[in-house]
Amino acid sequence: MNQPIAKAGHGPVLGVETSCDETGVAVFDPARGLLAHTLYSQIRMHADYGGVVPELASRDHVRKLMPLVRETLARAGLGVADLGGVAYTAGPGLVGALLVGATAARALAWSLGLPAIGVHHMEGHLLAPLLEADPPEPPFVALLVSGGHSMLIEVAGIGRYTLLGDTLDDAAGEAFDKTAKLMGLPYPGGPALARLAEQGRPGVFRFARPMTDRPGLDFSFSGLKTQVLLAWQHSDRAEQTRADVARAFEEAIVETLAIKCRRALAQTGARRLVIAGGVGANRRLRAELAEAGAREGFSVHFPRLEFCTDNGAMIALAGALRLAVGQHETPEIRVRPRWDLASLPPVA
Ligand code: KG4
Ligand code: ZN
Repeated sequence: MNQPIAKAGHGPVLGVETSCDETGVAVFDPARGLLAHTLYSQIRMHADYGGVVPELASRDHVRKLMPLVRETLARAGLGVADLGGVAYTAGPGLVGALLVGATAARALAWSLGLPAIGVHHMEGHLLAPLLEADPPEPPFVALLVSGGHSMLIEVAGIGRYTLLGDTLDDAAGEAFDKTAKLMGLPYPGGPALARLAEQGRPGVFRFARPMTDRPGLDFSFSGLKTQVLLAWQHSDRAEQTRADVARAFEEAIVETLAIKCRRALAQTGARRLVIAGGVGANRRLRAELAEAGAREGFSVHFPRLEFCTDNGAMIALAGALRLAVGQHETPEIRVRPRWDLASLPPVA
């Protein structure tokens, strides 16, 4: 059974993100921009287990999602009847968590006679800088660095993505999180390690910049983690030493990412660089790439800090762009825990 599309592509789009451990909801209006967004993070709940527990994540999305939808609409000054479409993260992510958002979003769309679209979570991250002033125009190169991915993408247009480089093992965020855990920092380790690194002294430790000594745009961070573990275990384990190790680790990751970004720009001839995903919130990475851009004549675009990590705004925006050209899905509820970004249809 197919729903008639009453208001395809028009009016504000509700965006729902439930792929992992944050429940995010937002309303993006193609005519007026982002109207409201809310986020509930499950971090405290998972902290007791030292990582995300998928079953608990799903159950918590069930509890939080509809109250957040209500709150977001209220902040936007809208009722459900004002909506023109619904977007939800359809993958990649935890299957149970994805199903919560997909089911609620599809049911809402069906009951309101609205078009609904399943959004690729990484496309959401990639397009998040378009929520800011002075948005980058394609073509550009995007560095997507999150808990699950480290990718360099050539963006010829919206929905026209070519994978230039990928991680061979740990993603950048995963390397931050695992290294933090090895050094005894509490979950979630990435932001804690970055905070500690700010107190670290430069040059006390130095780690390799993995895979920068050979051509190519792939990443590998698992060896770096081992180097850090050995350095930490053989140290005096003082608080200052921990900060010094954290600083050297962060410098190694940031410089490795920066080298590969510059290489990707040279290879593609692009002059614009987009950084997105949770690790895009890292201050050293932002500063280093902004400086490189100013020095070497390319522009660098980041989302604001809160839109680097998972959020509903990026899903509402990505969905709105696709709904605006008439893309939408049939009413069966489908999620894709694994989903190739390059397989997405182009927009327009
Ligand atoms: O994009 P995101 O919120 O979720 C995924 O889609 O994975 O990214 C979360 C990742 C985590 O690994 C977290 O440790 C990392 O981003 N992260 C950071 C910082 N803030 C978040 N890593 C380094 N420095 C930060 N400031
Ligand atoms: Zn994410």
